[in-house]
Amino acid sequence: MSPIASSSPSRGPAAKALLWAGLLWFLIAAVGQTAFIGFIVAYYGVRTATGNFAGWNDKPLIDGYIAGDDTGNIVFAAHVLLAAVVTLGGLMQLIPAIRRRWPGLHRWTGRTFLVLAIVMALSGVWLALVRGTYLSTISNVAILINAVLILIFAGLAWRHAVARRFEQHRKWAMRTFMVVSGVWFLRVGLMGWIVLNRGPAGLTADMSGLVDSVMTFGSYLIPLAVLELYFVAQRSSGALLKILAAVVVVAAAAYTALGVFGTAAFMWAPYL
Ligand code: HEM
Repeated sequence: MSPIASSSPSRGPAAKALLWAGLLWFLIAAVGQTAFIGFIVAYYGVRTATGNFAGWNDKPLIDGYIAGDDTGNIVFAAHVLLAAVVTLGGLMQLIPAIRRRWPGLHRWTGRTFLVLAIVMALSGVWLALVRGTYLSTISNVAILINAVLILIFAGLAWRHAVARRFEQHRKWAMRTFMVVSGVWFLRVGLMGWIVLNRGPAGLTADMSGLVDSVMTFGSYLIPLAVLELYFVAQRSSGALLKILAAVVVVAAAAYTALGVFGTAAFMWAPYL
């Protein structure tokens, strides 16, 4: 069953359509995030474990490894390696079978996910503001807002879980998943765009143009908006809104599939 639809009153064809649309999107996203984890382990994991830190820069990065900058390199290493763990944790949290069969595991992966989400946001802010790793002011502002949202949403998901307000917790946990996945969505969004246009139509080298800004701010605002539409449609008793939301989610799934193909084929595979 779709994790997103796990608590929906799934009656009638419109509710079913919404449920299946959610499942379709989640399966595609799970494949793409698993590829992301695989890339991080195979690329950063292997280079870091073998002491080949300069090898981080074998693929295009803004800064990556900088000779002599020990603190920056350590924060970078922690940030990229924990990225694999937080992504895996997020995926595990959304699988209802794990929640139902092993609630103890769900609680521990949940705590780990929320703590790591906070560590990722803070280390990311450090890299951006202290190390100065960013392309343009506007793209930096976009990802800093992403970091702030991670901190707020993770805090709320945690508070509702502790207070045993499970419906609120479920919603904030899913919003946290969306913002933690922001950097993954950004890659998927960019590569989907490039595949669709057969080139970087409108994208600029320093991510400061209009299309870039739609991508950088949209990397978390668009998934959050689709998720809210999904929540509203789930609650609604009208079939029309459910069908509309299902169509939007299927469109999102199709774009995600394009982007997942693009990231795997052009962003990651060439460097493995
Ligand atoms: C919580 C989710 C996040 C994940 C999963 C994540 C993942 C990653 C990964 C995999 C890299 C390596 C870059 C690459 O191979 O393309 C990276 C680098 C980086 N991240 Fe994050 N990140 C997250 C959040 C953030 C946030 C919120 C910020 C900023 C506020 C940030 C700032 C950076 C910076 C500055 C780099 C270095 C880029 C470079 O040197 O080229 N990250 N991140």
